Amino acid sequence: LGFAAACLVGGYVSGSIPFGLALGHVFGLGDIRKIGSGNIGATNALRTGHKAMAALTLMGDVLKGTVPVAIALYLLGPFYAAIAGVGAFLGHVFPVWLGFKGGKGVATYLGVLLGIAPIGVVIFALAWLSTAYLTRYSSLAALIATLLVPIAYYFLGYPAAALLTAILTVLVYIRHQANIQRLIGGTEPKIGAKKT
Ligand code: G3P
Repeated sequence: LGFAAACLVGGYVSGSIPFGLALGHVFGLGDIRKIGSGNIGATNALRTGHKAMAALTLMGDVLKGTVPVAIALYLLGPFYAAIAGVGAFLGHVFPVWLGFKGGKGVATYLGVLLGIAPIGVVIFALAWLSTAYLTRYSSLAALIATLLVPIAYYFLGYPAAALLTAILTVLVYIRHQANIQRLIGGTEPKIGAKKT
């Protein structure tokens, strides 16, 4: 139990590093929560027009999930890696440093998949990239990818991974309520479109 708690807390601390917010300041772009959707993720970082900053935000948000998962996997095994991944996801979405108002969890979700069963990363990437390519909606790509991952895990014979990611997917959907409203209303901005 001590190891599980350490993995959860370690993952959480890693996940709670707000890369988008920090990098926005580093690049002199101000508080990215004041532009576009107000989110601290890479999609909103791209709305600053600074592609390198957005790319670094994406890398940081993925790696802060991947690093604690990889450490837990190496030291303790897959069960603990999954716990570290869940901690990282929760840290990103509910960071104590930002009054528990964090991101939408999509990039960090990838780190969780790595800890549970890496085939999920492939499913996620294929679904996200093809939806984004076809529709140019980052949010829709995330909603479809995170819907397909637990279903794919289930049919590929990973019931525990299916259950765990299904719970995280529900959180991703809850965090995308405003996006879902805009998608239905036809007002969701497409990838790369600047909006202030
Ligand atoms: O990863 C978050 C993305 O799905 C939506 O971001 O800024 O368009 O709300 P945003």
